[in-house]
Amino acid sequence: MSRPRKHAVFVTGTDTGVGKTVIAAALVRALVAAGTRVAVMKPVASGAERTAGGLRNSDALALLQASNVPVPYALVSPFCFEPAISPHIAADEAGIQIDIDIIRQSFDQLSAQADWVVVEGAGGWLAPISAARSMADLAGALGAPVLLVVGLRLGCLNHAGLTRLAIDSSGTPFAGWIACGVDASFERSTENLATLEALLHEAPLAVVPHSGAAGGNSLRLAEAAVRRLEERLTRLQPS
Ligand SMILES: Nc1ncnc2c1ncn2[C@@H]1O[C@H](COP(=O)(O)OP(=O)(O)O)[C@@H](O)[C@H]1O
Ligand SMILES: [Mg+2]
Repeated sequence: MSRPRKHAVFVTGTDTGVGKTVIAAALVRALVAAGTRVAVMKPVASGAERTAGGLRNSDALALLQASNVPVPYALVSPFCFEPAISPHIAADEAGIQIDIDIIRQSFDQLSAQADWVVVEGAGGWLAPISAARSMADLAGALGAPVLLVVGLRLGCLNHAGLTRLAIDSSGTPFAGWIACGVDASFERSTENLATLEALLHEAPLAVVPHSGAAGGNSLRLAEAAVRRLEERLTRLQPS
């Protein structure tokens, strides 16, 4: 049987703490359950623990745990910083330049070993990685379509609308969006989801309710989202 078509997706969010890692890991688990070889990346990470093996970021570890392509940590997270601060400040303090070419090389090595590469950004779409470059530049350099995770909380409409505008103006293809119920006290969820659909010009690939990511139906939700995502990516990918 021939291998499935190769895909990559860059997971961004309306903000930090909106469910990018939870959703990315759920997608990875759904892909793995379908027999796909899935590599992961958290190319720029700030907020890390010192270990005998070096600095380790919890997002990168969570993604690696879900993945079924065992690769060295340095390929998954080539730029990992200890303080939980904006990566461009952490890099500056460490005297390191976040080099998109190095990330691209790691990404290419991972792509060679996998059918899918799931990349989680840090922060939101325009989060800076240096004085002049942002997550948007990184996603563009990787050539990976963008999946937007919208954290359902007050303020998400503005953040979602702005992010969609910025993704469209960057020229990086929009692969879809997933709503994530990060806030148990979020009110008028139905009305807000309808407004998000209007602002983002399309229905979500999935709506993950609060605590749903940990619940029994998360894999089913993620599997459905993966099927829709694969259809979108196949259409976006030049043949
Ligand atoms: N659907 C959900 N239900 C409950 N808690 C969630 C849900 N999605 C995410 N969370 C929690 O919200 C926090 C932020 O999620 P995370 O995936 O780490 O966001 P990000 O990667 O965007 O920073 C975490 O504590 C996570 O466990
Ligand atoms: Mg995260």
